[in-house]
Amino acid sequence: MTDILTHTDGGVMTVTLNRVEKKNSITAAMYGAMADALQSAAGNAAIRVVVLQGHETVFSAGNDIGDFLNKPPAGENSPVFRFLRGIAAFPKPLLAAVCGPAVGVGTTMLFHCDLVYAGDNAAFSMPFVNLGLCPEAASSLLVPQMLGYHRAAEALLMGEPFMAEAALEVGLVNRVLPPTEANGYAQAQARKLAAKPISSLVETKRLMKKGQAALVVQQMDDEGASFGRMLREPAAKEAFSAFMERRKPDFSQF
Ligand code: COA
Repeated sequence: MTDILTHTDGGVMTVTLNRVEKKNSITAAMYGAMADALQSAAGNAAIRVVVLQGHETVFSAGNDIGDFLNKPPAGENSPVFRFLRGIAAFPKPLLAAVCGPAVGVGTTMLFHCDLVYAGDNAAFSMPFVNLGLCPEAASSLLVPQMLGYHRAAEALLMGEPFMAEAALEVGLVNRVLPPTEANGYAQAQARKLAAKPISSLVETKRLMKKGQAALVVQQMDDEGASFGRMLREPAAKEAFSAFMERRKPDFSQF
């Protein structure tokens, strides 16, 4: 699958979103490939750290909107849910390098990463409401926790983008770099982590996350049920059709 590239070197597996012509929007097949990569990395002693990255111009435009329209995810074993559960439960250090737009799941997946490095062109957005949807990936829990309620409400109700410096200020991002340096910097940090004792890394991460691991799963399930229903409702259909037809959506009836 060339839309997702994986490469392992020196204990670091790098997963690259490689569908730049479609702004790295993520299809069911891509979620499946990423879920498989995470699963095999979790169980493979030769892989100590995973890095998620996109292109220096775009991280991800979120879920493929054609897929949303034509084959919405069905059931909790669908590739997107496998990916979301995999990323939330991934036991080893997980890093992300983010440049350009990070829309929808392109932003919400970052709340499950341990370290995030951003290009100064990174633009984060969670426009679920603008698409007639609701948050996913436990973002309705994790975004208020990280940003505080009012900033979270602005991000999730307005759905407008915020830039790398704002993400740094709220703690979503560890460091802002020139876009040409973000992927390389994440690699260098990953190599440093890969040289540390894996048992200490895994145990430290487990201890930091255990307080709300069950809550995250519960929130994802709750969101998933609503998201699945809303995907099939008229407001979302109007939003997706408007995107495909390159026009503004008309929500006056919904
Ligand atoms: N699903 C499917 N295709 C997408 C896509 C998505 N989420 N995002 C972008 N694309 C496609 C466009 O349809 C276009 O395809 P085409 O060249 O065949 O017409 C191509 O990628 C380039 O997109 P374009 O919108 O022209 O790029 P841009 O640089 O002007 O804008 C974005 C980039 C990311 C800001 C914009 O594409 C966007 O807002 N995408 C939708 C994001 C979204 O709502 N995602 C769902 C979140 S839940």
